[in-house]
Amino acid sequence: MTEQTLILVKPDGVARGLIGEVLSRVERKGLTIAALKMETVSEELAGAHYAEHEGKAFYPSLIEFITSGPVVAAVLEGPRAIAAFRQLAGGTDPVEKALPGSIRADFALETQFNLVHGSDSPESAKREIALWFPEFAQ
Ligand code: PPS
Repeated sequence: MTEQTLILVKPDGVARGLIGEVLSRVERKGLTIAALKMETVSEELAGAHYAEHEGKAFYPSLIEFITSGPVVAAVLEGPRAIAAFRQLAGGTDPVEKALPGSIRADFALETQFNLVHGSDSPESAKREIALWFPEFAQ
């Protein structure tokens, strides 16, 4: 069954020239890039995107980081797209959790600067796609 997911190449990934690396891995995996754009995230969009984390210790630095420079946002489609991209990304902590060969294990050292985001459930994907690509939401 085809699924959609929302992914981001975060400001560290864009600044480090890793947009092509991430999108290349997405395409090699067999996922389809159904929508794609680059933008600098407003405080409003950042707050809505990370609303579930409000109140956590890392929330202020997460918002500061995600609004610090342009990001690339994409909607991916494919069978089990949500889990497939999270497999490509690796776990949140790039050293302790991300498996070797994943994007975060291969290119990142710190949890805050973990390069990419991917929706974690069908409900999150629907909500995030509506936030980032309102014209694309189903
Ligand atoms: S939680 O608390 O388990 O739900 O958090 P988690 O899913 O692991 O992470 C949620 C997002 O917050 C980012 N994060 C952090 N940023 C900065 N510092 C610290 N310590 C930190 N811990 C988690 C993490 O990268 C997740 O961002 P996304 O964009 O969703 O991957």
